[in-house]
Amino acid sequence: MGLKSKLFKTGVVLLLIAVLPGLPPKTVFPFRPISIVPARPLAGVLAPNQLLNGAERLHEGGLQQPEGIAVRGNATYVTVYGGKILELGDQGSVRTVAKLGPDCVGTYSERICGRPLGLDFDTKGNNLIVADPYLGIWQVHIKTGDKKLLVPKDKAIIVEDREQSSSSSSEAARKLRTRQPNIPNGVAVARNGDFYWSDTASDFIFEDAIQALLCNPSGRLLHYSRAEGRSRVLIDEVYGANGVVLSPDESFVLVGELGGQLIRRYYLKGPKAGTHDVFVDGLPGAVDNLNGDATGFWVGLVIAADESNPSFVGMLAPFPNLRRLLVRLFVLAEAPFRLWYDATGSDFALWVTHHIGHLGGLVPLFPDRGTVLRMDWEGNIVLALHNDDTSSHVISQAVPVPGTDQLLLGSPVNQWLGRVKLTPDTLAVLKGGKVDRKQPATEAPSREEL
Ligand SMILES: *[C@@H]1O[C@H](CO)[C@@H](O)[C@H](O)[C@H]1NC(C)=O
Repeated sequence: MGLKSKLFKTGVVLLLIAVLPGLPPKTVFPFRPISIVPARPLAGVLAPNQLLNGAERLHEGGLQQPEGIAVRGNATYVTVYGGKILELGDQGSVRTVAKLGPDCVGTYSERICGRPLGLDFDTKGNNLIVADPYLGIWQVHIKTGDKKLLVPKDKAIIVEDREQSSSSSSEAARKLRTRQPNIPNGVAVARNGDFYWSDTASDFIFEDAIQALLCNPSGRLLHYSRAEGRSRVLIDEVYGANGVVLSPDESFVLVGELGGQLIRRYYLKGPKAGTHDVFVDGLPGAVDNLNGDATGFWVGLVIAADESNPSFVGMLAPFPNLRRLLVRLFVLAEAPFRLWYDATGSDFALWVTHHIGHLGGLVPLFPDRGTVLRMDWEGNIVLALHNDDTSSHVISQAVPVPGTDQLLLGSPVNQWLGRVKLTPDTLAVLKGGKVDRKQPATEAPSREEL
């Protein structure tokens, strides 16, 4: 067979896989072109700098991919591979607060043993509220480790937002909108103990995030009522719903989009209550965790993207048929190993199914730039802190240590927790809440401000 005819046959097979109806997967929303606002140029406030270079590596080799971070007093809480929530003391101690799920055979068994992501302090009791993409959303007591499953993945009570349910629509449409959660990811606890949370995507599990991002957006922002034990959908079709943060007056809640490189706002109070809009878009990377304070919030950009490093999601977004083809190829490649694992429980088959479609496999292709943003509550980018030395890139979250000049950097790929010292200029900007580049900082920043 000549090369031409081989190529022709391969082309025909690929075309059939791409367009034949009825082949898996069956997705929640059909494949359609997606438009993504291109990343803003790395200029002005986004201009490259090296403010995150030379990150210290805390607990190097001893922390498995600390993705979520929450700091209170001298204790830092992180979520790591293997289903654990750890407490790190300022003197170097490490204590397991709780372990979700059964023991792990390896990092490749996260689907079974858990992999908590977002966390926030509870306002009702000494708990952390922790989102695990495989095991649901948990309330975990910080001292005793007692844990309670608040949002199970298969038996969650999901209701529609008032707006949606009042509009006349079919039972099938209602069922679709109140579908079970699939990838609980971010949480933000309100003062009354309710919390807002994100469900990243509905079509594939977290281990298959590549496939999930190739499908049309099916992520959601939800509100969990502590009194009712149920969640209502606030925004649907969020493209890789990720970090969640509440404004200080709780008048709106924000959700970051991994795929869309933007942040959406849902209004909780005021004339626009019940509606949502785009808070900021064109960000130079995939939005991960968000955490805020009185003057603004931090944004972890886990995968850098810019003019010279376009995101794979953005490049493929306009081509639904190509995305469908790629998803089908992933599904076909993984299917025999899934069957094998289901039939025998083979460790090797589990390992293969874990790695096919896992975002971690793409890390070597990610740009070296690590970036976190500081934004104010009006939607202005106040600061962009970058590094180019890979001392801590693929940053999922940035959290300042109160009373110090330090910023902690979480990451879903590193075996340590990053820590950088913020410069006096940076601290001055944070203190002022606004950038004023013409006025260099004259007085030393107050340490209480962070
Ligand atoms: C925080 O400080 C208190 C008082 O010194 C100490 O008892 C506690 O163990 C510390 N916590 C951690 C996590 O280091």
